[in-house]
Amino acid sequence: MAIIFEEDSREFHIYNGEISYIIQILENQTLGNLYFGKRIQHKCDFGYLLQGGHRPLAVYNKINEYFLSPQYTKLEFPTYGTGDFRYPMISVTQKNGSKITNFEYDSHDIFKGKKKLLGLPATYVESEDEATTLEIVMVDPVLSLKCILSYTIFEWCPAITRSILVENHGNEEVVIDRLLSASVDLPDSNYELITLSGAWARERHVKRRKIEQGIQGVYSMRGTSSSEHNPFLAIARKETTEMQGEVYGFSLVYSGNHLEQVEVDTHDMTRISIGIHPDTFEWALSPEESFQTPEAVLVYSDSGLNKMSQIYHKLYRTRLVRGVWREKERPILINNWEVTEMNFTEDHILRMATIAKELGVELFVLDDGWFGNRNDDKTSLGDWYVQNFNKLPNNISGLSKKIEKIGLKFGIWIEPEMVNMDSDLYRLHPDWIISVPNRMPSPSRNQYILDFTRSEVVDYIFELLDGVFTEANVSYVKWDMNRYMTECYSASAVPRDQGKVFHKYVLGVYDLYERLISKHPSILFESCSSGGARFDPGILFYAPQTWTSDNTDAIERLKIQYGTSFVYPLSSMGAHISRSPNLQMGRTTPIETRGNVAIFGAFGFELDLSLLNTSEIEIIRDQIKKVKQHRKLIINGTFYRLESPFTDDRASWIVVSEDRTKALAGYYQILKMSNGYYKRLALQGLDPKKQYSVNGNSDRCFYGDELMYVGLLFDEKDLCESGGDFTSELFYFEQIES
Ligand code: GLA
Repeated sequence: MAIIFEEDSREFHIYNGEISYIIQILENQTLGNLYFGKRIQHKCDFGYLLQGGHRPLAVYNKINEYFLSPQYTKLEFPTYGTGDFRYPMISVTQKNGSKITNFEYDSHDIFKGKKKLLGLPATYVESEDEATTLEIVMVDPVLSLKCILSYTIFEWCPAITRSILVENHGNEEVVIDRLLSASVDLPDSNYELITLSGAWARERHVKRRKIEQGIQGVYSMRGTSSSEHNPFLAIARKETTEMQGEVYGFSLVYSGNHLEQVEVDTHDMTRISIGIHPDTFEWALSPEESFQTPEAVLVYSDSGLNKMSQIYHKLYRTRLVRGVWREKERPILINNWEVTEMNFTEDHILRMATIAKELGVELFVLDDGWFGNRNDDKTSLGDWYVQNFNKLPNNISGLSKKIEKIGLKFGIWIEPEMVNMDSDLYRLHPDWIISVPNRMPSPSRNQYILDFTRSEVVDYIFELLDGVFTEANVSYVKWDMNRYMTECYSASAVPRDQGKVFHKYVLGVYDLYERLISKHPSILFESCSSGGARFDPGILFYAPQTWTSDNTDAIERLKIQYGTSFVYPLSSMGAHISRSPNLQMGRTTPIETRGNVAIFGAFGFELDLSLLNTSEIEIIRDQIKKVKQHRKLIINGTFYRLESPFTDDRASWIVVSEDRTKALAGYYQILKMSNGYYKRLALQGLDPKKQYSVNGNSDRCFYGDELMYVGLLFDEKDLCESGGDFTSELFYFEQIES
C-alpha cells in the first residue's frame, strides 16, 4: 500500500517512488499539511514540519492547553472564519446566518484502487494495483455535515488526484458557497506562476510571472472552461526550465466555471487553490443530500516542465480518455468548413471527398449548415434534421451513403447545447433557454443556450441526435459550443436552486455525452468550442480529441500547440492543414510547414484539395503517407518541447517512442535571421548508447548521446523551400543495429 497511517503521530504518508504527500491530524482534530514534493524516506513522525507558533496578532484555536494559530499553519482543509485569514476551501451558510464551520477528523479508510465520481469525469484505474486511495472523513459536529476528502496516488506516476464529497447528515438545510477540489500550502514562495491563457484564436499561450504576497491566478466565469484561461496552473522555481528544476502542476477535470489561485501570505507561505469558481456557485444542500466536487490532479516534477507535461499526457491519454479510440490511430479527416462554410452543395462535397480519398484521406466531416434551413448563423440550431433538400437532396443519410461509397467514413458537426430563436425547437419550447424572466437574454452569434439542467431538454436532444447518428451511420462527431453563458437562470428551478445552474448545466452536458457514447461506442467524438474554448480534462473523458483552435495558421499554431502540450497529449489536439494565405491571419506559409505542424496532432484538412497545383498535390500525398507512418508514434510517444516559439524566432519539439527506437522531431523557423547562425538542434529522450539514422538515410547516423548533447547539425537549405520565413523540416530518427 502506498499510503501509511501512523497511529501515534496520526500522520498519513501518501507516496510512491517519486513523490511524498504528508498530512497530520492535529490536536484540535483539523488537518495540517506537512509536506508535498519529491519522495522522502518514511518516518514515524514528521510533526516538526508543521511549524507555526506564537506571533503578534495571532488568533488561536484553543483546546485545553493546546493552541493553534490557523493563520500561520499549513492547513490541509482550510475553512472560513476561525482564524485562517487566507482563502478557504469551504464556506457554508447555515440557517442562523452563520458561515462558520469546524470540521474535525472523524475516521479514515485506505484501500486499493480508485472509486468513480458519480456523474463527473475523472481519472480511473484498470486494475486495483494501479493506485491507492485515502478517504479522510471530516465532520462538523454542530451541523452533522460530513466531508469526505479523497486522495488517490497512482503507483506509476507522480500524480495525486483529489476531490471532496459533502454529505448533509443534519436536519437543517445548508448552502455551500464555496467548495474547492484541492488546496495545498507550501512553505515558501520562491516560485513563478505558469498559466495557459489567451483568447479566441490564440488559446493557451504560456504566461509566466513571479508570485508575490497577495493573490494571483486565473479563472472562468463564462460557463465553460474558456479560451481565456485553461483550468490549470503550475508553480515552478525561478530556475526551472523545460528539462530541469522543480514544478508543481494543478489541473482540474472540469468543463465549467473554475478558479486556480495562488496566495502568498505574510510569512511567505504559498497556498494553491483549485476548484469550481465560488462566485458563480451556491449549492443548497438539504438533509440526506450530497455534493461531489470535480477532481483536481496534482503533479510534481523535479526534472522540469517537460516531465510535468509527460506525466499529464500519459495519465490523461491512458486513464482519463476512454473507449475504443483511446489508443487507436485517429483517422485522417477532411472538413469542409474553411472551404464552403455553410454554402455547399452535395456535388461540391462529393468532389472534395473523391479527391481526398484518392490522396489517402479516411474520413469526411460535414461541418455546420446541413440541418434545418441553416444557410447562415441566424437560424436552425436545435433542428437536427434536414429541411433544406436543395443542399442535401438525398437527406443526410443519402450523402453519408455516397461518401461511404467513395470509400470514406462519414462524420458530422453538431452544436447540441444551442438554439436559434428562428428554429422549430425554439418555437415549440421558448422556455427551454437559459434566461431570466422579464429580461432580454443577450445573444451571441445569434444563438442561445439550451437549459441542460432540465432532463427533458437533454432527453429531447438525445433522441434527435441518436436518430441522426444511426440513420447516417455517423462514425465521427464534431461537438461544438459557440458561446459563453449569460443571464444564467433556469425557468425550471426554484429561487433557492438558481445558484446551482452553472454546475448543473455542465452535468447535463456530461450526461448527454455519456448517453451518446454508451449508445454509439464506436463514434469518435471531437470536442470544439469556437475552436479551443472548452479544451479541458473534463471533456477528454468523453471526447478523446478537441479542435485546438479556430486559428489554423501554422505559425500561430506553433504557440497554441506548444502551450496546449503543457497539459494535454498530442492525441487530443485536432490539427489541420488549411489554405494559404490563411483565413484567420492572411499569412502565406509553405504547405510543407502547414503539414509539419499539423502532423503533431490528430491530423486533417480544411482545404479543397482539388484547388491545389500538381506539386502541392504530391506534397500532400507524401504528407499523408508520413502521417500514416508516424501516427502511432505521435499518439503513444513521449513528447518533449525543445525550443519555445514564445521566446525564440524558432520552435522545435520531438516525440520519442516508449522503447526509444523511433522519434520524430519538428523544427520551425519563424522568421529567418539575416546572415543567421549555424543550425543545431539538441534532441531529448533518445537512447544515448544507440545509433540512429536520420530520415532513413543510412549514411547519416549518429549516437543518441551526440544527438542530445551535441545536437543534430543541419543547414538552412535542409528546410522546406530551402529556408526563409515560416519554413520547417521534420527529422525522423530510427535506431539501427550498431
Ligand atoms: C465554430 C468552429 C468552427 C466551425 C464553425 C461552424 O466556430 O470552431 O470550426 O465548425 O463553428 O459554425
